[in-house]
Amino acid sequence: MGLSIFVITVFLGGAFAVPALVGPFYQTNDYYTYEEIGDYLDGLAWSYSNRVVLKEIGVSYENRTLRTITISNGDGRPGKNVIFIDAGFHAREWLAHTTALNIINELVVNYDKNKDLLDDYEWIILPLVNPDGYTYSRSDIERIDWRKNRKPSGNGCIGTDLNRNFEVGWGAGDASDDPCNFQLYRGEAPFTEPESQTIQRVLLELTANNRGKLYLSIHSYGAEILYPWSYAKETIKNYKEHLEIAEKAIQAISKTSRPSKYVARPGNAMYVAGGSSMDYAYKVGFPLSFVWELPGIRGNEEFKFYPPKYLIRELVRETWVGVRAMAKNVIKYYPTS
Ligand SMILES: *[C@@H]1O[C@H](CO)[C@@H](O)[C@H](O)[C@H]1NC(C)=O
Ligand SMILES: [Zn+2]
Repeated sequence: MGLSIFVITVFLGGAFAVPALVGPFYQTNDYYTYEEIGDYLDGLAWSYSNRVVLKEIGVSYENRTLRTITISNGDGRPGKNVIFIDAGFHAREWLAHTTALNIINELVVNYDKNKDLLDDYEWIILPLVNPDGYTYSRSDIERIDWRKNRKPSGNGCIGTDLNRNFEVGWGAGDASDDPCNFQLYRGEAPFTEPESQTIQRVLLELTANNRGKLYLSIHSYGAEILYPWSYAKETIKNYKEHLEIAEKAIQAISKTSRPSKYVARPGNAMYVAGGSSMDYAYKVGFPLSFVWELPGIRGNEEFKFYPPKYLIRELVRETWVGVRAMAKNVIKYYPTS
């Protein structure tokens, strides 16, 4: 706070305008800390107060705030449908948070190019689901592979896999009941974690008033767009709609200069995994629900969870092309009445 007072517009390659907030600023060429993400959001709320609202929706186990940014076109019309995006369930998936920040940047700063996405819809974005895990994974190179949150889980171990802690199919398939499991501990019961409880509450609010239409959870890696179910080898009713919308995103990406090779398929295609937020969002009433697994490879370079900084900009731009196409179709399929 207090730092983000002056806004300078910087043109990069002539095509991409980002605000350089004096103090912390966002240029999509680095991974931001929890504090820098907070400063970036504060800066946007300060600079674009007519179109941006920040909301504290909860706190993590270590008392970091979970904040959403609600982006509108500022016309004040109530009751618009909502696209909800979250990122960073898994601590080490640093590209996910960065991608969410770039989506925010496109909608807020590059509003003139993207305002068609805001005529009849609001976007609510939670760019950092798991700030404790993320901060831990950044604190030492030995910790970079951390995935879970940081709440003590039992037997002297720490952390729950937040994407196994939701209640649909909780414990099924690829989930662990061992608190010391480094990756997949599901928690003692569904919704034992402050971070998953917070998301549950927001999703229920958005479906109670029938506004939530797209739930999109950004992860890495795999270059896949997944849709329900994840917890069982069953087919959902509107799987064709999911497949079509995911394929529109993939087509748009395929026309970019160095496209990633994406596939769209149900979350259960490789293995089943219960307790995911994607299944939960769908179950409680989001008609469209996806996990977006960002690419782990670029050209010949396989970076998996650890994209080098020099690739960030082209990766986030590619994803925006896909997310934009996805959103266009969501708005077409589920118009605000
Ligand atoms: C979080 O804040 C509460 C209330 O101030 C405090 O009781 C608790 O110990 C804090 N938790 C951690 C992990 O620091
Ligand atoms: Zn993940």
